Amino acid sequence: MSILEKHKFLETNATALLVGSFLVVTIGGIVEIAPLFYLENTIEKVEGVRPYSPLELTGRDVYIREGCYVCHSQMIRPMRDEVERYGHYSLAAESMYDHPFQWGSKRTGPDLARVGGRYSNEWHVDHLTDPQSVVPESVMPKYGFLADRLIEPEHIEDRLATDAMVGVPYTSEMIELAKADFAAQADPNADTDGLLERYAGANVANFDGQAGISEMDALIAYLQVLGTMVDFSTFEPDPTR
Ligand code: HEC
Repeated sequence: MSILEKHKFLETNATALLVGSFLVVTIGGIVEIAPLFYLENTIEKVEGVRPYSPLELTGRDVYIREGCYVCHSQMIRPMRDEVERYGHYSLAAESMYDHPFQWGSKRTGPDLARVGGRYSNEWHVDHLTDPQSVVPESVMPKYGFLADRLIEPEHIEDRLATDAMVGVPYTSEMIELAKADFAAQADPNADTDGLLERYAGANVANFDGQAGISEMDALIAYLQVLGTMVDFSTFEPDPTR
């Protein structure tokens, strides 16, 4: 059988073609994907990227629960219009501790990958409570109820431990002190030396301006850290990668 005849057999026999293509795709897939699980350095390490603090992580869970990702992406693509509007394009390392990542592809609202530090905490409270009060044409829903929902962080240690299981470098100290760190970040009068040592640059504030730690506090703590971990005035991409 010449090579063309063998090929004819494949092309005229649907089952053989299906089995053949399946084999090719499987082998190709394994060759491409499997090594990624064993490489130490699939993602370029970038200085400044750290795991989320307990309060930020809780805010991130609120973000996911409320479906903010349905309207907001968190990935600035390396194209001029995006970089001019949102800032430095997103690095893989900036979402390496996100489980699941929030890149998204739907932008009813703006990309939020670098919204941290762009507005004050008060602006976020006003905006989340009544988006139209600060951006009259906004179609964003109101989330004022988050300020009435106080959080009892009873499962926060487990929450950190779960992320640690999938590779986020939370130490046993971080997990042990999660409740204390959770409370300290929302209290401007707290002793925050330990918190800031464990989570460099964490914003400490009474984010929603009222007593108690609410889901609003947690969500704003999360929004304010987005895109702020890497110092882009000193960041240089590694050209060999
Ligand atoms: C129905 C779509 C929709 C949903 C859901 C939504 N947003 Fe928005 N968001 C918008 C739109 C549109 C804007 C732009 C107008 C404005 O600022 O309100 C916006 C703006 C924002 C901004 C200001 C961004 C900037 O750079 O000016 C933030 C922060 C934000 N949203 C956070 C959130 C959070 C947090 C949630 C979930 C609790 C959420 N959004 C849910 C549509 C949405």
